[in-house]
Amino acid sequence: MITRPTNAAMRSTGRVLANEQVSSGLIRLDMQLDLCPGFEPGQFAMINLTGAMELVFSRPFSILAVQDRVLSLLYRVVGRGTRAMQQLRPDDNLTVLGPLGRPFSTPAEKLPVVLIGGGVGLPPVWAWLKQYGRPDDIGFFGARDGADVPWDLLDDRWRISVDNHRQVPADRAAWQGLVPDLVAKEISPDDHQSRLVMACGPIPLLKAAADLARDRHWPCQVSLEEHMGCGYGACKGCVVPVIDLNNTQDSWRNATCCQDGPVFSAESIDWSSYSRHDFDVID
Ligand SMILES: Cc1cc2nc3c(=O)[nH]c(=O)nc-3n(C[C@H](O)[C@H](O)[C@H](O)COP(=O)(O)OP(=O)(O)OC[C@H]3O[C@@H](n4cnc5c(N)ncnc54)[C@H](O)[C@@H]3O)c2cc1C
Ligand code: FES
Repeated sequence: MITRPTNAAMRSTGRVLANEQVSSGLIRLDMQLDLCPGFEPGQFAMINLTGAMELVFSRPFSILAVQDRVLSLLYRVVGRGTRAMQQLRPDDNLTVLGPLGRPFSTPAEKLPVVLIGGGVGLPPVWAWLKQYGRPDDIGFFGARDGADVPWDLLDDRWRISVDNHRQVPADRAAWQGLVPDLVAKEISPDDHQSRLVMACGPIPLLKAAADLARDRHWPCQVSLEEHMGCGYGACKGCVVPVIDLNNTQDSWRNATCCQDGPVFSAESIDWSSYSRHDFDVID
């Protein structure tokens, strides 16, 4: 695997350009940065509000795109911080620290990539396909229903699955069921081409993607969304149980999601204890 070198994180001010709904549950936030390092897909930024709205802890968001000093995110309103972000208007300011974290690694050999995104897990896999995708790489995106799909972001390189088929536009196709099942349906077990899976979304989706990859003997990388305090390794508030793959004693340790991740090899995660998290319905 090739892990591309990443830029050092910078703290900058972001001036809101647009903050608009792109589906029933997803909002795209575009902001102009005063300082803007490039990013690698899978990396994230810590975002905070300013003035009276400032939060004690910044909130982590995957980077969707950076172009001409414009940083774009995609978020869902789940609590206090994202509710306040929803109120932002053009010319409002935010503080941004990034890019942070370990991005997806690309196979050294030409291995087709299967990108799997569920809900707010779309940005890192969307960014990878946009930046590095080749013709035989395919994106799969899972949403609650047709209204929840950001159709304008998803071109014909994306296959869509929905939990419920209501509000799927007549001119677009969506399969009803879970996104890893759509991958299993589209890529037959008789297709012996090896692939690399890159996935981001709720924990059950990641676990299902990791199980599928293991059954097919495909390598798999997952991007995790832990609660974070600092975003750069200082508070140890974002631990992920990982198995020490080099140790024959089956030992495990707590890694940090912000520094050791958020992208991890799926086989390094101790899914039996990680799957017990009680906040696995974030999408
Ligand atoms: C590396 C990384 C990338 C992320 N990328 C995105 C993204 O692109 N778009 C997006 O919408 N969200 C993303 N998240 C999740 C996002 O950080 C949280 O939704 C956000 O912090 C919630 O803030 P809040 O103040 O609105 O909610 P809070 O008031 O802090 O919490 C509201 C509810 O959301 C739950 N929650 C909060 N944070 C998380 C979390 N990290 N994982 C699971 N549940 C959580 C809480 O348990 C609680 O039930 C990412 C998280 C990480 C770690
Ligand atoms: S968020 Fe502070 S150590 Fe990861």
